[in-house]
Amino acid sequence: MKPTLPRIVVVTGASGAIGAALADVYAAPGMCLALQGRHTKRLDATVKQCQAKGADVFVCEMDVRDAQALRGWLEAFDTDHPVDLLIADAGVASVLDDLGHWETPAAVEEVISTNLLGTINTVQPIAERMRERGRGHIAIVSSLAALRGMAISPAYCASKSALHAWGQSIRPLLRAKGISLTLIYPGFVRSKMSDAFPASTPFLMEAPRAAAHIRRGLDARKATIAFPAILWLGLKLLNALPDPWGDAVMSFLGLSPQKRS
Ligand SMILES: NC(=O)c1ccc[n+]([C@@H]2O[C@H](COP(=O)([O-])OP(=O)(O)OC[C@H]3O[C@@H](n4cnc5c(N)ncnc54)[C@H](OP(=O)(O)O)[C@@H]3O)[C@@H](O)[C@H]2O)c1
Repeated sequence: MKPTLPRIVVVTGASGAIGAALADVYAAPGMCLALQGRHTKRLDATVKQCQAKGADVFVCEMDVRDAQALRGWLEAFDTDHPVDLLIADAGVASVLDDLGHWETPAAVEEVISTNLLGTINTVQPIAERMRERGRGHIAIVSSLAALRGMAISPAYCASKSALHAWGQSIRPLLRAKGISLTLIYPGFVRSKMSDAFPASTPFLMEAPRAAAHIRRGLDARKATIAFPAILWLGLKLLNALPDPWGDAVMSFLGLSPQKRS
């Protein structure tokens, strides 16, 4: 049986490139979207675009690290609009541009608290409601960076890898209650985040194309959406190598800093 398509969708990080493009692919007459972000101006652009396509739009200007406030907002929204699909996309990156540098405690804190705890803060309240209803779909945006640590971005890789492990852990608990979980592992997608990446960005994809690909996977309720396939496979193969060889390949690709101070 074909899975039912969602009508009420929550997207976090909707003021960013991938989140805005995801909101756009779901915007249509009859759709109800809750869009979260922190920057009013950027979020407003996404809201207007989705409204122009005929969707009802609700705005959640909130920091995903504020667990209590976020829970309050999500529960109130879900009471009036039982969520069919939650896409937890909000995230930040931290990158080193020199092997002599080291991530500051503040950068590590921001990345882990936003990407890992912020995602859990987003998923928990809606997962609890979906468990009561016995239906729903949750999608978590991890990254291909979850598959292989990169010297250029330690906390980011750790946060995305932790999401991968957390997602795999909760999937059976959700499935037992009739809820689907999709883990999304994008490669490089053009955004503020990828623009700040100080090394090469192979197979860089535009956000609308990435969002269309993600939507197809979500419509099919895939457990995993990873792209581009060539990078996904390449990383899987890399992980089969002894670690020092893997490190050497990452360095050759420019994903370990080239310059020593
Ligand atoms: N671009 C890539 O190459 C790539 C690759 C793999 C995975 N990803 C993942 O895809 C997701 C979206 O990234 P993107 O490329 O679209 O980056 P982006 O354009 O920088 O967007 C990031 C989004 O996250 C939101 N956000 C960040 N910190 C937040 C916080 N503390 N509270 C609430 N919202 C917060 C931002 O909101 P404000 O702008 O309003 O603060 C923005 O909407 C991230 O999880 C990222 O790790 C991206």
